[in-house]
Amino acid sequence: MEEIKKILSEAKSDIEQDVGLERLIEIKNLYLSKKGKLSVLINKMRELSIEEKKSFGKELNDAKAYVESLINNKMVELEKKKLNQKLESEKIDITLPPIDSHSGVANPFYKIIDEIEDIFIGMGYKVEKGPEVDKDHYVFELLNIPKDHPARDMQDTLYIDNETLLRSHTSAVQAHVMEKAKGQPIKIICPGKTYRRDDDDMTHSHQFAQVEGLVIDKNINMGNLKATLELFAKKMFSKDSKIRFRSSYFPFTEPSVEVDVSCFSCHGKGCNICKGSGWIEILGAGMVHPNVLKMSGYDPDVYSGFAFGIGIERVAMLRYGIDDIRKFYQNDIRFIEEFNKKVED
Ligand code: PHE
Repeated sequence: MEEIKKILSEAKSDIEQDVGLERLIEIKNLYLSKKGKLSVLINKMRELSIEEKKSFGKELNDAKAYVESLINNKMVELEKKKLNQKLESEKIDITLPPIDSHSGVANPFYKIIDEIEDIFIGMGYKVEKGPEVDKDHYVFELLNIPKDHPARDMQDTLYIDNETLLRSHTSAVQAHVMEKAKGQPIKIICPGKTYRRDDDDMTHSHQFAQVEGLVIDKNINMGNLKATLELFAKKMFSKDSKIRFRSSYFPFTEPSVEVDVSCFSCHGKGCNICKGSGWIEILGAGMVHPNVLKMSGYDPDVYSGFAFGIGIERVAMLRYGIDDIRKFYQNDIRFIEEFNKKVED
């Protein structure tokens, strides 16, 4: 009996120590397993009388049950502690300020295309797309620029092979659309990238974009072209924008014009944006050349049309005060963010 008491108090003090789960299991084995300190006391029974056996047996069982309950309680306590620690370490402090979130913004290149598209869709135009890698046939031949025509020198073209090239203007899409339209009226714009062999600097780029416009119907005249472009300039730049036509040459239009818009900054007085002239050149245009109409199956005596090609970066640079054309393709996130801030202001 003395020994039971002694082992019991040993067990109690072992359990009360600051033990972890592993040590607790060790303690359990130490006292309660088959060869455990309490369990082996059963061997003492042999030396006892029947009366003594009864009380000793009860004492021993009670002691084992007691130790077991102490261990179980400790176990529950340890589990609770572990859970609390876990909760503590995984606690989310909802009062902390959020990590700066970063949402994407539109590239100015696409933003300006969207704006241009909106203006022309408002005038009843359809938006068409064409291939950036195209055939000589569409980029030049169908636009009245046969091989060896000196006008080919107007555009330094990047060839892939003798017949295939990176389109040097979106006018190529005119040829595709006219071919598909099979003599029916057309009213389209086509925004897209174009490529030319050029040394890149602040105002020149080997890749740039244009919006081509083409209208073919009966009774289309130069007045329609002027009214259309004037409305475009007013919507894109300012309500009091004016345009002027300067006579020019393109093989696929006759007559051909270069179109200037009145400087939206100084309103014609002359400033550094318009280089003192009061005007800024933004596009080339003209009446579709009879040869071009004929090649695509339109009778030039019945149908007429106008076409224009707007330089997209040029419009964006003027509209948003961007000083370097290369910024459009360099993909520098700082430029894109700065641009969007400007637009919001
Ligand atoms: N394709 C011409 C250029 O790239 C622009 C243009 C388009 C001129 C349509 C007239 C008509 O320079």
